[in-house]
Amino acid sequence: MDKSAVLADWISPSNTPVTSTEQFAPSNIALCKYWGKRDKQLNLPMNASLSVSLGHLGTHTRLVPIDYPTDEIWLNSDRLLPSSPFCQRVSAFLDLFRQPGRCSFRVTTRNSIPTAAGLASSASGFAALAKAANESFALDLNTEQLSVLARLGSGSACRSVFKGFVEWQMGQRDDGLDSHGVQLPVTWPGLCVGLIKVDASEKSTDSRSGMQRTVDTAHLYQSWPVQAAHDLEKLKQALASKDFERLGQTAEHNALAMHATMIASWPPLVYWQPESLAMMQRIWKLRKEGLSCYFTMDAGPNLKLLFLQTELDALMRYFPEMEVIQPFGHG
Ligand code: PMV
Repeated sequence: MDKSAVLADWISPSNTPVTSTEQFAPSNIALCKYWGKRDKQLNLPMNASLSVSLGHLGTHTRLVPIDYPTDEIWLNSDRLLPSSPFCQRVSAFLDLFRQPGRCSFRVTTRNSIPTAAGLASSASGFAALAKAANESFALDLNTEQLSVLARLGSGSACRSVFKGFVEWQMGQRDDGLDSHGVQLPVTWPGLCVGLIKVDASEKSTDSRSGMQRTVDTAHLYQSWPVQAAHDLEKLKQALASKDFERLGQTAEHNALAMHATMIASWPPLVYWQPESLAMMQRIWKLRKEGLSCYFTMDAGPNLKLLFLQTELDALMRYFPEMEVIQPFGHG
């Protein structure tokens, strides 16, 4: 099934944009990862996942209709070439809403997440773009529908439509209309996410092709959906009982299990740099010495630390460069 067919009831091809708008969506960090698709076209996942959104850090996207044959796309004050992969993805997403050749946009995308932190911005980017298109075309979609829309741009974007802890329910339907984020009714003031940059340069294999390679070539991948389902339940229990150790252990174990499936692919997919492993070893050592902190990692070499505010001062002494985010404010 293609994307336009899925959206046929929500979006009429005769739509024209009615207004300019600016929208924001937060970045998110998965505690139980999404890795592998059951439908490549629609970004439908093999497993449900769970993330925490990063408060005011994310993407601001402005959409202005322009009288010009092609879109004009800006990223952090640079105008991008229409042939760049970023522009192609953004324009293809906007094509879901408009008749070809009928209207173009100036799209201005500004990431408030420090780019040096090495955080992927496609999740917040497509969530903000989905919200902006909803406003600009006056579609009046609800947040679940926006989450479905954002998923069509980039899978993990469906979680960035919401604040706080978000579960991406994998859904069962072929059209994916039941595969979207749901905000969990939990907050955790004092929970900290620390960004540790190992290498912020562009990764050689993006998550899209990385997960496909894993599904296609890693026998180990067969165990992944089972582990992810268990981890999701453990994380939900940890959130309900505010059990930080259980949360941290499960998130770290889940990230390492995902990386194990990547390493078991062919050609091997190793996102770690030597410094990534050195950083993991430091964290394991600190934990042995009594500091309560865990890490998670995505399709890249950088680490995201998880800890409570009570450990903040101690951890800043070990990682003075760390960028700290408190998604729910102070504890
Ligand atoms: O949505 P994508 O295609 O950027 O994939 C995200 C994959 C991970 O970041 C590795 C995991 C996740 O759940 O965010």
